Amino acid sequence: MTASFAPCVPLPGRCESPISSRCLFGILVGSLVFLLSASSDACGPPPLYLAMETIEKPKSNYSVGEKVQYRCKPQYFYIPKRIMTTVCLENNSWSLVFDYNCFSKACSYLLRPANGGLTYDNDDVGYKSNAHFSCKKGYHLIGKAVLSCDLVKGELAWSGKPPRCEKIVCARPPEIKNGKHNASDKEEFQHLETVTYSCDPAPGPDPYTLIGARTIYCSGLRTWSNNAPECKVIQCPLPVLPNGKQVSGFAEKFPYQAVVMLECNAGFYLNGSEILTCGSNSTWEPSLPSCIGGPSHPTKPSVSNYPGYPTTREGLLNFDELDEWTTALTGITGFVGIAVLCVCLYRCFQRRKKKGKTEVKAEYPTYQLKSTSAAEQTN
Ligand SMILES: *[C@@H]1O[C@H](CO)[C@@H](O)[C@H](O)[C@H]1NC(C)=O
Ligand SMILES: *[C@@H]1O[C@H](CO)[C@@H](O)[C@H](O)[C@H]1NC(C)=O
Ligand SMILES: *[C@@H]1O[C@H](CO)[C@@H](O)[C@H](O)[C@H]1NC(C)=O
Repeated sequence: MTASFAPCVPLPGRCESPISSRCLFGILVGSLVFLLSASSDACGPPPLYLAMETIEKPKSNYSVGEKVQYRCKPQYFYIPKRIMTTVCLENNSWSLVFDYNCFSKACSYLLRPANGGLTYDNDDVGYKSNAHFSCKKGYHLIGKAVLSCDLVKGELAWSGKPPRCEKIVCARPPEIKNGKHNASDKEEFQHLETVTYSCDPAPGPDPYTLIGARTIYCSGLRTWSNNAPECKVIQCPLPVLPNGKQVSGFAEKFPYQAVVMLECNAGFYLNGSEILTCGSNSTWEPSLPSCIGGPSHPTKPSVSNYPGYPTTREGLLNFDELDEWTTALTGITGFVGIAVLCVCLYRCFQRRKKKGKTEVKAEYPTYQLKSTSAAEQTN
């Protein structure tokens, strides 16, 4: 029993966990099949090969003398008159058979494209190998750069048509408003050939400014390296900053790329950039900043976000005046207090001098003096 079981391949149904019910069922069914067939079945499924496959679906058990026929897998071709059959032997093993009979099919070698190159993975044109195409400098690859040798309807074939290399040329670059380029008489441009744009003289007092790349070149097939530039009059407005002022870059007009520097008035804090540049849209870049806060709140620029805090300049001033008054009031109160105390002390000493020297002690606590004198004052 055990001898006949040994060469056979494990029973169907993979056991993933030893205690699963499915597994238990598998073992039970397997044992039953084994008991019923052990006496007659001698071989397990026939061996697997790289280049061959069985014509019929393999069974799990075969009896002695049963034959299994192989054929070459689709990507291999067959040399006739070779043995392609195995037999289940009496010692429960399969008779020897080799897949040397099957030879790998191949894709055809391709032609190198004109003005280009071609290489194959591992110099091989067999199943799943790739063909890589490239083009000489100044040429553009049209099509797929990589083809693979695939199985199509039982035969190996390349996955597409080989690409070709087309000479890189560009058509005329675009014409622009208020300007021109220096190759107005040419129709075709070679790879890396350049054209340079310039702006026309402006009809008004302000000149046209060229925005973008002055020189562009033919960088790829029908492709210029950059968009054509623009010619336009650029004039930024006077940079007026509420609660602040301009400190440098003074001019009557602010043309393209004019730079100004701004500053907030004392106590106000700048939110944004202090340096602005006149941009291509005739606007300041970055946009105009703002001066926030006020003279009495130098360290808290975000205080203006608190509800109830006065946000107008008037409100800020009122609040500041109030603050100054508070400070003044505190000072005056202190001064008056000290003056009253001095007067009291003076009077007190005067009275005690009149009553007699014995009742007065030099080390008498100050607070007692103060309270007595205060009480005497109120009386
Ligand atoms: C089975 O027998 C054949 C010849 O009869 C022999 O070549 C083969 O090695 C044997 N296999 C085993 C596993 O004993
Ligand atoms: C200029 O204005 C255009 C259209 O209003 C906008 O798309 C573009 O981003 C602006 N450019 C700059 C640099 O602000
Ligand atoms: C500063 O400016 C930015 C954008 O202009 C704004 O979102 C932000 O609230 C401002 N900060 C303060 C403290 O006002």
